[in-house]
Amino acid sequence: TRTIKLAVIPGDGIGPEVIEQANRVLDAVLAGGEVELARTEFTLGADRFLATGETLPPAEQQAIAEHDAILFGAVGGVPGDARLKHANIERGLLLKLRFDFEHYANVRPCTLFPGVESALRDPGAVDFLVVREGTEGPYAGNGGTLRGGTPNEVATEVSVNTAFGVERVVRYAFEAAKARPRKKLTWVHKTNVLVYAGSMWQRIVGAVSSEYPEIAVDYMHVDAATIHMVQDPSRFDVIVTDNLFGDILTDVAGAIGGGIGLAASGNINPDGTFPSMFEPVHGSAPDIAGQQKADPTAAILSAALLLDHLGLTTEGDRVRDAVRSDLAARGSAPRPTMAIGDAVIAAIPARV
Ligand code: NAD
Ligand code: IPM
Ligand code: MN
Repeated sequence: TRTIKLAVIPGDGIGPEVIEQANRVLDAVLAGGEVELARTEFTLGADRFLATGETLPPAEQQAIAEHDAILFGAVGGVPGDARLKHANIERGLLLKLRFDFEHYANVRPCTLFPGVESALRDPGAVDFLVVREGTEGPYAGNGGTLRGGTPNEVATEVSVNTAFGVERVVRYAFEAAKARPRKKLTWVHKTNVLVYAGSMWQRIVGAVSSEYPEIAVDYMHVDAATIHMVQDPSRFDVIVTDNLFGDILTDVAGAIGGGIGLAASGNINPDGTFPSMFEPVHGSAPDIAGQQKADPTAAILSAALLLDHLGLTTEGDRVRDAVRSDLAARGSAPRPTMAIGDAVIAAIPARV
């Protein structure tokens, strides 16, 4: 028996509700097999901050680091809650984990499953993967203010791009494209305006592409990429882009793929130095929290990515097959979170 140490961070709002279902699906797909999960739950997020004033104590971060993978729900309170003004849960917890654990490949697949209604009227075949840089760019936290709070305030937020950081995510994206049948990579930036980072990305993509002659490479400015994504998403296979562009493009992709309740992600540390972290793209959705209204599918598909990452691709495929059949059978009537978990578990194909 192989034991996998899994850190679970359910978080706030709908986080615990969707993670409960993802955990049930993990248990069901692994039942009777050679793999067992040893879980540790970490109570972190806005609620923890409000209760104790803590965001991510170093001892807990160290404890999380000693796991094989992390399953993360969502964190964050009600937007605008004054008590959280100085907490910065997103930066102090979620981004801190992504940065400190070197989750440089933030992978966000967009697949329109049969029977699912896209936000697009005529989407065509949608099956692409966004590889979002996860550790630098405008998210680096390199900024400041002068004359804060005055009419003459100056606020800067400087995008940090290192050759090392760009090359490692670009390489990851080429490898991802190589593993897929269409062998296509689109890199997205804003080289007409962001000329320094843009020319470095361009040089690095060019250099790495010479090692991958089988991959067709094209480039789009990020504004044009949003047009192409809504007009003809089938043209995309793998996209690689900067942290902020990737954030925005993957919310568009979420809507194209049938909604934010279905969008999964993995924050990957490909080197294996730190545990990778798997989470739905959505947030804590305070507007529907505690009512069993959240769709747990994004969390369940994130758990499937976790299985893939641990080398359990057969189990990951069995989860995706179960989700696919649930989505194909799903009517338009809303179903409780738990009922979707039940239906997915019932649809898991037997081991072969
Ligand atoms: P959100 O994703 O939480 O919600 C946006 C809308 O989508 C809401 O109407 C919500 O009800 C709906 N929605 C989200 N997930 C759903 C699901 N699984 N099923 C059905 N409907 C769903 O974004 P927001 O409202 O901008 O942010 C709320 C809080 O979450 C904020 O504090 C924000 O910072 C935080 N946040 C956290 C993460 C994360 O932890 N990764 C991501 C985004 C936002
Ligand atoms: C996401 C979220 C986060 C991000 C926020 C909550 C920090 O929007 O995972 O897409 O911007 O990366
Ligand atoms: Mn986002």
